[in-house]
Amino acid sequence: MALRKIARLGHPLLRDNAEPITPLELQAQSTQRLIDDMLETMRDAGGVSITAPQMHVSKQIIIIEVDPVKPRYANKPAVPLTMIVNPRIISHGDELEDGWEECLSLPDLRGRVPRWTRLKAAGVDRDGNAVEIEAEGFFARILQHAIDHLHGHVFVDRITDLITLTYQHEYEEYWRTEGG
Ligand code: NI
Repeated sequence: MALRKIARLGHPLLRDNAEPITPLELQAQSTQRLIDDMLETMRDAGGVSITAPQMHVSKQIIIIEVDPVKPRYANKPAVPLTMIVNPRIISHGDELEDGWEECLSLPDLRGRVPRWTRLKAAGVDRDGNAVEIEAEGFFARILQHAIDHLHGHVFVDRITDLITLTYQHEYEEYWRTEGG
């Protein structure tokens, strides 16, 4: 495994529609290595999700993991390691909730984004087996954030009130609330 450079906002790949992965491509050593590198890079950077476009590969792969052992996510529910290839949202509830988001491609920024609180997503795992995932709360939020990356969207596109766009330091200083 190896660390890879993370694409930052402004890189055109972050604004592209990523390609679905064919079963043959998924088996390729280069794809399996990419998935391993994504995981290592996400953990090294302290993120809770990463996507192939953020690794400069315009393909539909997402990885999510929330480890509450990390102080930054101490008040968040754990999400076990989840890798989905060709993910799509197949249904969602009708409730939206505002919550803070950040992104490895927009280092140091945060903002409040409305997301569905419950959803179902489907895709395949790294071995090509069909998977269906039900997510709610923080997990549902991260899933929507990650799937957005595969369609050329970043969280700032979804902020309804840009007054909430803030640097991390100022967030800690002026915005953080209990449980926030
Ligand atoms: Ni992101």
